[in-house]
Amino acid sequence: MTVIEVLKAASGHLQKHSSDSARLDAEVLLAQALGMRRLDLYLQFDRPLTDDELTKYRGLIKRRAHGDPVAYLVGHKEFMALDFEVTPAVLVPNPDTEVLVQRAVAIARQAPQTLRMADIGTGSGCIAIAIAHYASDVEIWATDSSREALEVAARNVARHRVTRQVHLAFGDLLDPLEGSFDLICANLPYVAPGTVLPPEVTAQPAGALYAERGGAALVLRLLEAAPARLKSGGRVLAEIDPQIVPAVGEAARRAFPNHIFLRDLGGRERVVEAWS
Ligand SMILES: C[S@@+](CC[C@H](N)C(=O)[O-])C[C@H]1O[C@@H](n2cnc3c(N)ncnc32)[C@H](O)[C@@H]1O
Repeated sequence: MTVIEVLKAASGHLQKHSSDSARLDAEVLLAQALGMRRLDLYLQFDRPLTDDELTKYRGLIKRRAHGDPVAYLVGHKEFMALDFEVTPAVLVPNPDTEVLVQRAVAIARQAPQTLRMADIGTGSGCIAIAIAHYASDVEIWATDSSREALEVAARNVARHRVTRQVHLAFGDLLDPLEGSFDLICANLPYVAPGTVLPPEVTAQPAGALYAERGGAALVLRLLEAAPARLKSGGRVLAEIDPQIVPAVGEAARRAFPNHIFLRDLGGRERVVEAWS
């Protein structure tokens, strides 16, 4: 079979398994199986596949059809135009999170001196690393309660050469960190237990997805703990699901004199920003 023939067959198969990006997924996985860039496939549509290549590709398509995220199958994912290693130990970086990163970068760029930041629930490290990349005058302390996630984050920190700006620590929320911060960022789990989710979401670590109290528990705990850990004029930015806006708004009002919700490109409340 040739490149174009296997692509047609694989995207038809993925479509039947309700992948909403079947053709793109088929191309990305074929490029991975053949060890080439996706765009190069277009120059080689008539190239026949060897038996080994076909076997490897069929294996990837089978796993994709079962719901494995493409990012786990290829081992990396682009976020804020940077490439991050991902494994099943971490959440796949999501474009929704760019709202939080863009706001944090804007705050850091306006700061008169080095901004001391925390990134709580760092996962792959994508938030801390993207902020360090786009706003270099920052010192970021990133925590996670998963040691496996921190191992992936450490490799991403090294890969992006931000070891001087980004430091990793294991533990619950702000507990492993000392001192106070100008900015506390967080993308903590915010899905209500029992929510029906597509297989490519449930393939990600449960500890990165779910939180008690309808998904709000961790964000509420962070909002409660944050005022004692912020410098004067400091701020919190936490990603949320629009469904937890009422609970988060109430907690933000209790902990801070000011808060607003920032919206994503789809117009949904995606980040709470709170300050004194
Ligand atoms: C939704 S993922 C976000 C990962 C990454 N920040 C991103 O945006 O892709 C949440 C992360 O928070 C971590 N986490 C969950 N509970 C935590 C806690 N109590 N303290 C610190 N990290 C926690 C999880 O292990 C997971 O890596």
